[in-house]
Amino acid sequence: MRIYDIIDKKRHAFSLTDEEINFVITSYMKGESKDYQISALLMAICINSMDESETNALTRAMVNSGEVLDLSPLGNTTVDKHSTGGIGDKTTLIVAPIASSLGCTVAKMSGRGLGFTGGTVDKLESINSFKTELSIDEFFEQAKDIGIVVIGQSADLTPADKKLYALRDVTATIDSIPLIASSIMSKKIASGSKSIILDVKFGSGAFMKTSEDAEKLAEAMIKIGKDFGRNVTAVITDMNAPLGTCVGNALEVWEAIEVLSGRGEENLVKLCKTVSACMVSSALNLDYNTAQKMVSDAIYSGKALDKFYEWIEKQGGDVSKIKDSSLLLNAKFKREIYAKESGYIYRIDAQKIGTASMILGAGRTKKEDNIDHLAGIILSKSVGNYVQRGDALATMYTSNEDLLDDASLVFEEAISYSEDAPKKSELIYKIIK
Ligand code: URA
Repeated sequence: MRIYDIIDKKRHAFSLTDEEINFVITSYMKGESKDYQISALLMAICINSMDESETNALTRAMVNSGEVLDLSPLGNTTVDKHSTGGIGDKTTLIVAPIASSLGCTVAKMSGRGLGFTGGTVDKLESINSFKTELSIDEFFEQAKDIGIVVIGQSADLTPADKKLYALRDVTATIDSIPLIASSIMSKKIASGSKSIILDVKFGSGAFMKTSEDAEKLAEAMIKIGKDFGRNVTAVITDMNAPLGTCVGNALEVWEAIEVLSGRGEENLVKLCKTVSACMVSSALNLDYNTAQKMVSDAIYSGKALDKFYEWIEKQGGDVSKIKDSSLLLNAKFKREIYAKESGYIYRIDAQKIGTASMILGAGRTKKEDNIDHLAGIILSKSVGNYVQRGDALATMYTSNEDLLDDASLVFEEAISYSEDAPKKSELIYKIIK
């Protein structure tokens, strides 16, 4: 087999066989196929796409490129959750303890953030002394003991995806549904949970810009899940505006505790309840309405919040520091941002809010960058609110005062005003299985 012939075949829009796809991944991992050849193939895939069988074969080859976690010793109730990325997306911090408090086992790996989206691991590391690196034995022991454990993504899982993703990132080949679907699902399959809930986002702050594309991506991922014998549910959600009111690591931990305490912003609460109900329904094999009632009960009885604190403590986190919210909202410098005009808030551009928060120190531009865990933005207004010129829109938090001016400029670009109230868009567009 020659990589040249495989590139040429895809260039002419033919389907690749399982053997050819395997060859691509194994020869690339051995260094026999070169970056420039794989880049050419990726571009041909972006242009000519891949069918279901090719997408499944690529996922399998990436799963087999590294370690595969077998969570079966934990039973059949293991459930993982993935979000395709968003601004202010702290749902894992909320839904994982809810589902675990109801009898699901959440033993999961999460990523760090890069660019304007934050990662769950960064959010957890904003909690004093929380350990995101555990040995595999500690990981299993904690999952058995308390039904919840979240650690950083192991470097040994799907190394082929890591290598391909790095190449896609610099060759304008991220944007392909089969490539995104196989990349995400290879990590989820290798992480071992029986049930997988996907929050597939669309809008300005997401990979998929339209609900139609988000649905196509969700369908591709569901098909991959079926091929591997996993139960996959996808929730298609709007990410045109940031999720909830807080963007930034410690600020999002604070907001997660708000939701687990039965408070929190309407859309964030709705999404967390929906994703948790999908997790409970899938992992415990219950109908969705029953799962929904159990989720509400877990929140309003305090059971989910207790599980959250138990989890944080078990992984070494200092719970006293997060029980006192003033310590999470304690950045050295704060600045309020005021409305420049009177009118309805027509749009809050999620991507720009993410960028403003990153400028404040909450995100990384390069993998090696350090994060300012206390940096970020708390929005005090949402889309559809009427404001008078001079009303407070948000507060910025940072440890470096010099960053406030640049971040304010980007923040202001994120806000659009209108004379008429904007049409209310539904956060949850669809749930598919
Ligand atoms: N997230 C991933 O893990 N992979 C992609 O290709 C896109 C988003």
